[in-house]
Amino acid sequence: MKVFLDTGDVKEVEKAAEWGLLDGVTTNPSLIAKSGRRFRETVLEICGLVPEGAISAEVVATDYEGVLKEAHEIASWNPQIVVKVPLIPEGVRAIRTLSQEGIRTNCTLVFSLPQALLAAKAGAAFISNFVGRVDDVGGDGMEAVADTVDMIEQYSFNSEVLVASVRHPKHVVEALQVGAHICTMPFKVMNQLFNHPLTDAGLKRFLDDWNEAGLEIFEKARV
Ligand code: G3P
Repeated sequence: MKVFLDTGDVKEVEKAAEWGLLDGVTTNPSLIAKSGRRFRETVLEICGLVPEGAISAEVVATDYEGVLKEAHEIASWNPQIVVKVPLIPEGVRAIRTLSQEGIRTNCTLVFSLPQALLAAKAGAAFISNFVGRVDDVGGDGMEAVADTVDMIEQYSFNSEVLVASVRHPKHVVEALQVGAHICTMPFKVMNQLFNHPLTDAGLKRFLDDWNEAGLEIFEKARV
């Protein structure tokens, strides 16, 4: 499963990129607004920080012509960019056109299997199934992800299922279990993936025993 960071904060991207595990970054208008910086410069800085990664950047137009115009502009900034387009009729129509033009799209704000079907048929490279926002209102967001993965495999669609709106490491585990292609997550969640109390306790014991035995790796020359 590919691991993406869901952020508009270049400092978070820098840190996660250091770990060498990052396959891409997803942004959205709210995350870019939160960054307090200009859209194009932020996206391009993120591209530079993850040079092999797929970087999603979202349009804000909601009409066909407007989406196409913005998508062509955004895609022109860097070949790493995947243009994010919401799952609305005019957006799906634009995704179809962009797909035929060879421009990769990430169809976002997908919450149901029928919506995912439309995104896949339109040729979206990524289908962003939101899970956290469904869970936030008492639903089971991962259910639509599992169904979407099954649909992609059953009908050999080319889209990749991207689990989005991730709230905690359990969503990452569930994304793995249902066979999602990609999981995008906030920096906080990615950081949490490292944590286990038995790792902390185990490392402490190793180091305590080592130090108590007075052992060295770089042994001083015997005189
Ligand atoms: O960026 C798309 C998605 O991951 C955002 O989800 O619910 O955290 O705003 P959310």
